[in-house]
Parts: sequence; structure tokens; C-alpha cells
Amino acid sequence: MKRDFIELSSLTLDELEKLLKLASRLKRDLLYGFDHPYLRGKTLAMIFEKPSLRTRITFETGMAQLGGHAIYLGPQEVGLGRREAVKDVARNLSRWVDAIMIRTFAHSTCLDMAREADVPVINGLTDTLHPCQLLADLLTLYERFGNLKKLRVAFVGDGFNLANSWIEASELVGFELRMACPQGYEPKGEFRERLQRNPRALLVNDPIVAVNDADVVYTDAWVSMGQEDEAEKRRRDFRAFQVNRELLKHAKATVLVMHCLPAHRGEEITDDVIDGPNSIVLDQAENRLHAQKALLLWLLRPEILNE
Ligand code: CP
Ligand code: NVA
Repeated sequence: MKRDFIELSSLTLDELEKLLKLASRLKRDLLYGFDHPYLRGKTLAMIFEKPSLRTRITFETGMAQLGGHAIYLGPQEVGLGRREAVKDVARNLSRWVDAIMIRTFAHSTCLDMAREADVPVINGLTDTLHPCQLLADLLTLYERFGNLKKLRVAFVGDGFNLANSWIEASELVGFELRMACPQGYEPKGEFRERLQRNPRALLVNDPIVAVNDADVVYTDAWVSMGQEDEAEKRRRDFRAFQVNRELLKHAKATVLVMHCLPAHRGEEITDDVIDGPNSIVLDQAENRLHAQKALLLWLLRPEILNE
């Protein structure tokens, strides 16, 4: 049966650990100039219905470094569900390429693509989840701490796709997760329930409570892609949830500050914090490349994970 990567829990904990180790090995080998053309002759189709810098560049570069090839398909080309049904796009692509990455709005579109495609489908961000980002984030923390289980992670901001992915990560890995969202912006539906069921998790409306003694403080945009119409209201509602120097006084002195990027400087995070000594946002961005190379191998050459 083919594998897909739709959510973090598409992986078992054992697979996640192997994937992080493989990503570290690929990163080190790249530094020393060792080539790994494991995906020679393979093609990844990348469907983007939203903009991207990191996701596009890291998948395209990752495929090239592994000896394969990636094709970018923007919203104008595919017209997913408008020019052509998701089912037809999935079935056509399956005849030509070895894997599909999709960044879209409704999570159900990603699920439909995975159901209809005969080749592995990767979720490159939906309104519900951003699992590729979490792979890079967990790799970044693995490099710093080794053991992730003992961490206290504070998520400050919108209970949207990144927050949901952190809920999944805490379930899978078992670290402590303290989430602070403004009232009305908490995670929705099953994710809120999962958060509330998780004995290692806490949901609050006070960012100071969430960051108290935290090892890691994570934030995300107040206005995500597709929410531009709500920008003004959101900027008002999130004002007390800015990650700034004052808030970080409540975290550990060694706290690491993370952001998936793109950052909106002066909104969810201040310049001095994102550019400061505790910020590891560029390590996260860098690790998108290495984590996704390992992911592509897990999907297309799974035997390599056990080498
Ligand atoms: N973090 C992230 O996914 O960045 P892009 O939107 O630039 O791909
Ligand atoms: N929550 C943000 C993440 C961007 C990587 C968005 O969906 O726009």
C-alpha cells in the first residue's frame, strides 16, 4: 500500500525518530559534500494554491539534491476543482510523477488528493495542518536537546494550522504543550478536544501562563493566508499575544524562540526577539530542506530509513 504524509501522525513515533536521524545524516553529508542520488529519475509534482517561499524552495532543492526533479504548479495552471476535478488531477499526475505535494485551503482537498492518487501525497499546508513544518521544527529541537520528551513548549497565537500540528506533535512525542490563544481563536473541533484530552497539554487565554518556565516559545502569523479580510480585527484581538522581550521574561533564560515564517515583524513577534540570540527561526527554515529530504525517502525509498 502506498504511503501519504497528510498529518504528523501519518508516522509512528519510531518512524519519526528514524526520520529525524536520517535527516541529520543527510544534513551532515551535504556539508561534507557526499551525494545521495537516491531519487534519480523520480519526479515530484508540487501543487500550490497559496504562496510559498520555504516549502517550494526546500522541496525543489531537496529533490534536486537527491538526484530527482520537482515541478511547480501554481494556482493559475491547475485550477484545482475549477478547471479540473481533484480526482482527475490526482489520476493524471499519478500516471507521470512519483509523488505529489499539495498546499491548499480545505484539508478535505488534500485528503481527496491522497485518496484518488496512486502515488504518495504530501500535505504542504492546509487550513488545518502543516506537518512538514513540524518535521523541521522537531529536527531543530532534536539537534538542540536530543530528548524531546522533557521539553515544555509554549505556543502563543492563533489556534490554526500550526497550533493543530503542535497538538499532534505533543501527542506523538509526549512533550508538554502550553497553548495560549485569544478567546475565540482556540483550536477548533477535534483538535481542541485532543488538546483537552492530552494530560501533557494546557489551553489558556493568558500568554504569560503559557510561557511560564518554557524551554521553547513558538508563534505564528495572526493573519494566515486566506484570512486577509479579517486582518484588522485579528490585529486588534491578538494585540496582547505578541512575543516580545517582556513576555519572554516569564520563560526560561535559555528559551528558544521559534516561528514557522513568514514573520510579520511588529505583529506576532518583535524585531529584537526574532533577530535576538534566543531565536532559532533560520535553523528551522534551513531544516525544512533536510527534514523533507528524509520524508521523500520515507515515502519513495523506505528501506533507506533502516540503513
Ligand atoms: N513556513 C512555510 O511553510 O513557509 P512558506 O509559506 O514560505 O512555504
Ligand atoms: N498559519 C500560517 C502559516 C504559514 C506557513 C498560514 O497558514 O498562512
